[in-house]
Amino acid sequence: MKEKIEALRIEIESAMENTQTSRALYELKLKFQAELKVVMSGMRDLSKEERPAFGKLVNEFKQGMEEKFEARAVVVKQKEMEEKYASERIDITMPGKTVKKGALHPITLVKNELIDIFSGMGFKVFEGPEIETDYYNFTALNTPKDHPARDMQDTFYIAENLLLRTQTSAGQIRVMEKTKPPIKILSPGRVFRSDDDATHSPMFHQMEGLVVDKGITLCDLQGMLGEFAKRMFTSSTKVRLRPSYFPFTEPSVEVDLSCSECGGKGCRLCKGTGWIEVLGAGMVNRHVLENCGVDPDEYTGFAFGMGIERIAMLKYGINNIKTLFENDTRFLKQFEE
Ligand code: DAH
Repeated sequence: MKEKIEALRIEIESAMENTQTSRALYELKLKFQAELKVVMSGMRDLSKEERPAFGKLVNEFKQGMEEKFEARAVVVKQKEMEEKYASERIDITMPGKTVKKGALHPITLVKNELIDIFSGMGFKVFEGPEIETDYYNFTALNTPKDHPARDMQDTFYIAENLLLRTQTSAGQIRVMEKTKPPIKILSPGRVFRSDDDATHSPMFHQMEGLVVDKGITLCDLQGMLGEFAKRMFTSSTKVRLRPSYFPFTEPSVEVDLSCSECGGKGCRLCKGTGWIEVLGAGMVNRHVLENCGVDPDEYTGFAFGMGIERIAMLKYGINNIKTLFENDTRFLKQFEE
């Protein structure tokens, strides 16, 4: 029996010396326990007198081996940690990876600037849906089904009474239906028209403005637009109102700004006129107010709508609207701040 224990000790101890991982050590321990069981089963063959001494011997052996396993575990663990640290070592003197930063699109930059300017004058932002009903996009804006002005906007219809909005003006109705005057809102967003050339795109952005209160006049509109022109372009930019026609305003005006390129002298940009058309506006037609439950004898209002691409093109000297949608990074990079 003693010899068997001695043989097991030598076998396990030399195997233990060679273990390099916790896993191998654990497996060796399982093997040791199994073999010890075999040795212990030999106890059956001993006489009653011999058993206590053998039991003591086995216990001491077992305890001694367990201590050795524990001591080896400490060594193996230490080795493993050293290897792990070495493999995960970071060279903190290496140059860092540069992260490529994105930038805001010029349309977003101009939209944000417009919101900044107008919110400084007390306007709140309202965003309406891009898919509109015929009622909000046309009928409520004093443009019934047989109205010739519908031909001015080539509409993408989805169903008979459902369309991609052709103008953010639809938002005016949604706001007036829900809010009592005084109203002062700004409504930016995408609009859609079946139109495509160097200055028109089937999808573009508009910024709508609406002010309704007691005693609002065309002078308020003109004053506010003058302030807007100075802040958006230069402090010497002037505003000119020309009579025009929109079904939802009466009177209606087309708004020109003095050409920022030539200062009003006349150049290629303003086609020699000194003025550039930038937006449509007017006093809200009384029928539109009535359609929204606002009493036109008590309240008046003005509205305006501008193309954000047009403002961006003027501000940055872009001559083809397509460059704004191609997303060529060489073009977009120029707007990084
Ligand atoms: N909705 C017009 C368009 O898309 C622009 C416009 C003109 C908006 C006059 C207005 C306005 O609010 O009063 O051409």
